[in-house]
Amino acid sequence: MVVPPVAVLLVSCICFPSSLAALYTEPRQLPRHTYDYVIVGAGNAGNVIASRLSEDPRTSILVLEAGVRASWRAWFLSWYQHSRPICDQTACPPFGNETEHLLDTPYDWNYTVTPQKGLNGRTFPYNRGKILGGSSSVNYMVHQYGSSEDYDKIAEITGDAGWNWDNVKRNIGKHEKIVPPADGHDTTGQYIPANHGTNGMLSVSLPGSSQLIDSRVIATTRELSEEFPFNEDMGAGISATTYLAAAINRPNVHVLLNAHVTKLLRTGTIQGVPSFRSVEFAGKPGAPSIIVTARREIVLSAGSIGTPQILLLSGIGARDELEALGIPVVVENPSVGKNLSDHVLVPNIFRVKDGESLDALFRDPALFKAALDEWMETKRGVLASSMLNHMGYFRLPSTSSIFSTISDPASGPKASHWELIVTNFYINPKPGHIPPETGSYLGLVSALISPTSRGSVTLASADPFAHPLIDPNYLTTPFDIFAMRETVRAVKRFAAAEAWKDYIIAPFGNFSSDVDADLDAYIRDQASTVYHMVGTASMSPRGAEWGVVDPDLKVKGAEGIRIVDASVLPFPPNAHTQGPV
Ligand SMILES: Cc1cc2nc3c(=O)[nH]c(=O)nc-3n(C[C@H](O)[C@H](O)[C@H](O)COP(=O)(O)OP(=O)(O)OC[C@H]3O[C@@H](n4cnc5c(N)ncnc54)[C@H](O)[C@@H]3O)c2cc1C
Ligand SMILES: *[C@@H]1O[C@H](CO)[C@@H](O)[C@H](O)[C@H]1NC(C)=O
Ligand SMILES: *[C@@H]1O[C@H](CO)[C@@H](O)[C@H](O)[C@H]1NC(C)=O
Ligand SMILES: *[C@@H]1O[C@H](CO)[C@@H](O)[C@H](O)[C@H]1NC(C)=O
Ligand SMILES: *[C@@H]1O[C@H](CO)[C@@H](O)[C@H](O)[C@H]1NC(C)=O
Repeated sequence: MVVPPVAVLLVSCICFPSSLAALYTEPRQLPRHTYDYVIVGAGNAGNVIASRLSEDPRTSILVLEAGVRASWRAWFLSWYQHSRPICDQTACPPFGNETEHLLDTPYDWNYTVTPQKGLNGRTFPYNRGKILGGSSSVNYMVHQYGSSEDYDKIAEITGDAGWNWDNVKRNIGKHEKIVPPADGHDTTGQYIPANHGTNGMLSVSLPGSSQLIDSRVIATTRELSEEFPFNEDMGAGISATTYLAAAINRPNVHVLLNAHVTKLLRTGTIQGVPSFRSVEFAGKPGAPSIIVTARREIVLSAGSIGTPQILLLSGIGARDELEALGIPVVVENPSVGKNLSDHVLVPNIFRVKDGESLDALFRDPALFKAALDEWMETKRGVLASSMLNHMGYFRLPSTSSIFSTISDPASGPKASHWELIVTNFYINPKPGHIPPETGSYLGLVSALISPTSRGSVTLASADPFAHPLIDPNYLTTPFDIFAMRETVRAVKRFAAAEAWKDYIIAPFGNFSSDVDADLDAYIRDQASTVYHMVGTASMSPRGAEWGVVDPDLKVKGAEGIRIVDASVLPFPPNAHTQGPV
């Protein structure tokens, strides 16, 4: 019934080598203002593009990044104060203090979503990395590609067979390098080597520390093998900083930090189509604007929020929205910033008996420090892992009543509707939520993988430094709330397995009831995000009435701009998004 991986792959974030060539922090350091390519955003996608393009030494590339390169000290302080893994200079441990957020550090954009009508009007912060590596420098390092059906569906939607999985998967060999896990454990039966690359750029491993509950998870997949079968490999699999580390030592790549791109400038008309070759940026509000030029193309890789914002500021978007803000319309396209979709989650926490969970580690600074010291000294121990050792992707039963009124939104008949993430500790990412001070917990987090709700990113102001309005519009369709409710029921079946009998005490949260309305209330009160926003500059067929880019990722109705980042994905994949990006 399922596409359920169980072993998780992690990227090992091998960050910057000590000798950094052309990494500039101030515009006056730039040796020139014209390059073959100007890439906006040194994130997950931008760094891969910089790396690939710079393989040809005759090609010159400038990468403009609004964020900073965190110094080791800043990283370290941030670790303690905000306890998030921000990489720099050395390999960084995949896991931080999960009770704290990246928010309000200088490495985050500090975005907030608009009040969500599907979540009782709640609003909450939406993390995005403002740092070299973008969100891939601040994430949990889970590394997956999704279902083959995701790519086949993109090919179908765009009418371009180049996106078929059979074509996409050929790049895995170039991309990925499977390395042994930190604890050196025997990985036989935990992944399928033939699905993975061994010579690529990005080091990927299985989790590097085992947990006491691992055997219970595996036992559950045996006991409930109909509904939750074991899958040896979800690996139909970045740490973008890895790519940057490769690219940055090439003399043909220059990276400028603290460069906030404010707009792309029309520089002419080619066969009646507005062409764009110049990029305007500034260091901070009020600082002088600087213009750089791309001889060949501008590549927008500012992510699902930054990319539509820059397009709109450049006059590429819905006429009425632009005119209302006094922005001259250069390319009319009502799809810019629309069709946003995201993976929404509910935490589903259970109270468990003491002795197997990692809760004490996050409560006791001495234990945490010991674990951090162990990681620093030996690159081993509990922090050598993202701590998310098991995940699974599952389908709703085909007999579910919702399918009598709504066609199946999964990417295909084998693709999933929801994801289960097992956490051996208390985790509730709902902002403002205060974790309990005592007790041991198990999280059976469920996330909606095939949402049908669509939201938007729109400008709040013509000021390029103002945050846009981010409205994910979570859980606003009958399918989404139905599916979410069924995930909570499925989680309760998972937790009822014999394997948990002597362990789980009771649900910790208001999801014990089986009444639809009670479950809906719990979901709308507790839901938050997995941070996998996509779709705001979606691909569509060439010549379509909707969509922002053609299947070759060139912006429709414009010449000289390509978009490469999460925003071009038409729907969220069956995966955490950095691998697909
Ligand atoms: C907290 C968190 C946890 C996550 N966990 C995982 C995980 O474990 N596994 C996984 O696969 N995915 C995870 N994700 C999602 C994944 O990191 C993102 O999907 C991915 O990084 C998106 O890549 P991108 O290139 O589109 O954008 P990003 O990686 O965000 O890069 C965009 C870059 O553009 C820069 N930028 C934006 N605007 C401008 C501008 N105006 N001028 C100049 N530069 C600009 C940004 O500073 C940033 O560096 C997580 C995300 C978050 C926030
Ligand atoms: C986010 O907030 C922190 C702390 O207030 C601040 O240092 C940082 O500059 C903010 N980031 C942005 C992009 O405004
Ligand atoms: C959103 O995407 C759908 C296809 O999934 C498309 O039909 C629709 O026109 C898009 N809407 C906008 C505003 O682009
Ligand atoms: C984790 O962060 C919380 C909230 O700031 C703090 O109370 C706690 O002491 C931190 N835990 C450790 C182990 O540093
Ligand atoms: C359950 O709901 C009640 C009433 O709404 C609330 O007081 C309580 O805090 C909730 N419990 C949890 C664990 O969220």
